[in-house]
Amino acid sequence: MMLARPRRNRKSASIRALVRETRLGAADLVWPMFVQEGEDSETPIRSMPGQARLGISKLVDRARSAFDLGVRAVALFPALDDRLKDPLGTESANASGLLQRAVRALKNALPDLVVVTDVALDPYSSDGHDGVLVDGRIDNERTLPVLARMAVAQAQAGADIVAPSDMMDGRVQAIREALDAAGHTEVGICSYCCKYASAFYGPFREALDSAPRSGDKRTYQMDPANQRECLREVELDEAEGADWLMVKPGLPYADIIRLVREHSTLPVAAYHVSGEYAMLKAAAAQGWLDYGPCLMESLLCLKRAGADVIFTYAALEAARLLGEA
Ligand code: PBG
Repeated sequence: MMLARPRRNRKSASIRALVRETRLGAADLVWPMFVQEGEDSETPIRSMPGQARLGISKLVDRARSAFDLGVRAVALFPALDDRLKDPLGTESANASGLLQRAVRALKNALPDLVVVTDVALDPYSSDGHDGVLVDGRIDNERTLPVLARMAVAQAQAGADIVAPSDMMDGRVQAIREALDAAGHTEVGICSYCCKYASAFYGPFREALDSAPRSGDKRTYQMDPANQRECLREVELDEAEGADWLMVKPGLPYADIIRLVREHSTLPVAAYHVSGEYAMLKAAAAQGWLDYGPCLMESLLCLKRAGADVIFTYAALEAARLLGEA
């Protein structure tokens, strides 16, 4: 009896490289970055070692380092002064607001850098919610026009892709229509299609001081217990005109990434979120895990699960470890 020997394909590094099914490259990565006022300011984020809120000129410098290492996309989140926050997130449509200035500066300095902007109220809202709060409830219909105006302001500033992370129903269509009406037919939409009400977003909310002031996000973000429900979100977002579909968080939701991959022909993005990053950093700081290999394995596994694009705070570190440039 011939013995099947899978180990033959693992015999040497060269054979393993030939039969490798999944490859990770710097070009797969998007670096989420936080921007704040004060050109040269830099405020480290306590629960995200290695990440900081950056003033615009530092932001451009860091994005350039990433670009030079092959990371050709960033996703931007603004950290606003509390005085600029109100219940309607009015500041989000300000053409000369912080985020819009950051987008312009990045596109001026690095025209080939893909700039992704976040569409949701939370960085701008005095309530810390992604939608408009009316009598203790998030009002879907009152939120849509606010999101649409925000997306148009971002497109006007030069964003390549707008990424609604708010989870209101109908927002992809509302944003698509507003972008088209304003002449931004070439600006894409990365829909946070399957975004779960996850506790892994904690460090991000600390970075932006954007935690909900009351209640939680469970009436709009998905229940972590649900899988089938994501197919409904996929169908709707496709019909409404999404260009990319995102699953968030990343690794704990690898089954969702696979499901979306198998049900859509659109590119799938996975968000390796702040809590996932923090866990790796914390274990490494204790000397309990070897950061580099654990990071690369995490990102590779997201690709193997079916992600084409990975949003990760570790993009710059990963690009260095990949050493392609
Ligand atoms: C909110 C938003 C969140 C993240 C991205 N956009 C947090 C939330 O929904 O409360 C989280 C990202 C992360 O944890 O890395 N619009």
